[in-house]
Amino acid sequence: MTQVSGEDLDRRFATRAVHAGHIPDPLAGAVMTPIYQTSTYIQDALGRHKGYEYARTRNPTREALERNVAALEGGRHGFAFGSGLAALDALLKLLSAGDHVVCGENVYGGTHRQMTHIWARHGLRFTFVDTADVQRIADAVTPATRIVYVETPTNPLMRLCDLPAAGEIARRANALFVVDNTFATPFFQRPIELGADLVLHSTTKYLNGHSDMIGGLLVVQPDEVAARVGFIQNAAGAVPGPFDCWLCLRGTKTLALRMRQHDANGRRIAQWLDQHPRVQRVYYPGLPSHPQHDLACRQMTGFGGMVSIELGTLERAKRFVESTRVFALAESLGGVESLVGHPASMTHASIPVEMRQAMGLTDGLVRLSAGIEDVEDLIADLDQALQGV
Ligand SMILES: Cc1ncc(COP(=O)(O)O)c(C=O)c1O
Repeated sequence: MTQVSGEDLDRRFATRAVHAGHIPDPLAGAVMTPIYQTSTYIQDALGRHKGYEYARTRNPTREALERNVAALEGGRHGFAFGSGLAALDALLKLLSAGDHVVCGENVYGGTHRQMTHIWARHGLRFTFVDTADVQRIADAVTPATRIVYVETPTNPLMRLCDLPAAGEIARRANALFVVDNTFATPFFQRPIELGADLVLHSTTKYLNGHSDMIGGLLVVQPDEVAARVGFIQNAAGAVPGPFDCWLCLRGTKTLALRMRQHDANGRRIAQWLDQHPRVQRVYYPGLPSHPQHDLACRQMTGFGGMVSIELGTLERAKRFVESTRVFALAESLGGVESLVGHPASMTHASIPVEMRQAMGLTDGLVRLSAGIEDVEDLIADLDQALQGV
């Protein structure tokens, strides 16, 4: 079980990003955390070892990442997993058959798929609600509710959830309040400071930031929950390898720099698209026209690089995503390179079509992940692609 130190938390964000969790290598004094590419550790005598016995249980490179991200979130404990969905799987293993979860309806498609296709078969029960309206969370709570699970901003419709208000509902229901902070990252939003008990990350996205590994992470605040998550991490074993942990750790060092650039590019692109006659609607919490812009300004310190646009029809969306040149047509988000995607047929294809339509996730919706390239090149690329729409 990896716990942050007081020193990690004393420092400001960019300093934490570079230093938290890094322990100088005892052998050579390497400044960067080594990749401890080992499955096991030598024991000096029977039962006498240096605290490390087997790498599913503990690995120093993984621990450095766990401490680093937990410190960035201002939380107490960190647990790394082989993917964001493996982190979700470990979270839901805290529950037992008959337990109930209130979950945002507009979460990542894979989150919905795991809940409804796997966990529902094992007896967990789920109610999906629009968490932009916290009263709907309150209305969905039952005596069996153990977790309130939200994404904010949501993927890809950019709806926000009022974190302090939702956290209060969870607390009154004696349920854990869990926030997927993959989109905003701790640079722009810190859910634990706003009342969350756990934060989930797909580290595949902004935390790694270079689209070269898959990973997940849970930051856990209550000690007793952390002990149980630590048990599950070891007993179920969905841990990441040390090299992937190291790649992510290298990524988090530059998180502050990258997020500033994603945010600057996201704002410029959203404003430009908002004026474009061929774009019917722009979804970006940083635009004053966003229905929850005030809330965004209250609980976020920036809005990032994710922008969704409505182009009206599947044909127009298809023409657009197939004609960008700098924006690569690909799943995923949050890397230094710009990506474009079609949620209805890609990331959210596993959400039933009626549910997609009811919440406005149309066939004409396109999602952009603005990278850190020169924004003029990004806008020129979008401009030429929109001319063919
Ligand atoms: C918001 C969000 N949460 C969780 C996940 C799942 O993470 P992973 O793909 O690392 O399993 C994703 C993946 O796209 C995501 O966008």
